[in-house]
Amino acid sequence: MNSSRHPVNLALIGFMGTGKTSVGRLVAEQLHFDYLDTDELIQSRAGRTITDIFEKDGEAAFRKLEQQLVAELAARKRTVISTGGGLPTNPLNLASLKPHSLIVCLWASPEKIFERVRNQTHRPLLRDANPQLKIRELLAAREPFYRQADVLINTDLRSVREAAQQVVHQFKFAQSGHS
Ligand code: S3P
Repeated sequence: MNSSRHPVNLALIGFMGTGKTSVGRLVAEQLHFDYLDTDELIQSRAGRTITDIFEKDGEAAFRKLEQQLVAELAARKRTVISTGGGLPTNPLNLASLKPHSLIVCLWASPEKIFERVRNQTHRPLLRDANPQLKIRELLAAREPFYRQADVLINTDLRSVREAAQQVVHQFKFAQSGHS
């Protein structure tokens, strides 16, 4: 991170099932920050589930809502922002988050991701005949975007608590002017 950046927020990016929500909540608690989840906010504003938005309006409409929301976040302070897995694939989103947030990517292998999401049904992109292949393909396509984070943390062998500890450490380090 270059020295001209002074992150007042922390944004968690990463694929579905990497623990952004659970880690993000814990990090917010430990830093005494507010917690904001882009998926939750989109759903509560629309009064609809993400699945419903994808099904009736299409993915492009959902991505537009994401982009509008991200643009509003510049006004936030002391907030942990947990983002939907596809949000960084729109370069405008990372460009808009970077001036105010340290971007931390939670990473996991496709095998671990599948293990974590296999019994969940709320993600439209994984309602696929072959979810394992879908995860592998999407993750490979998105890797260049995730790698634009300031910090990458592998969660394969870390508990939620351990991952949160790492995130807090990296944030404090960045705030102290290092990194
Ligand atoms: C998506 C991930 C989901 C949600 C939507 C699309 C994606 O968020 O935004 O279903 O494109 O990877 P989570 O990463 O919180 O599951």
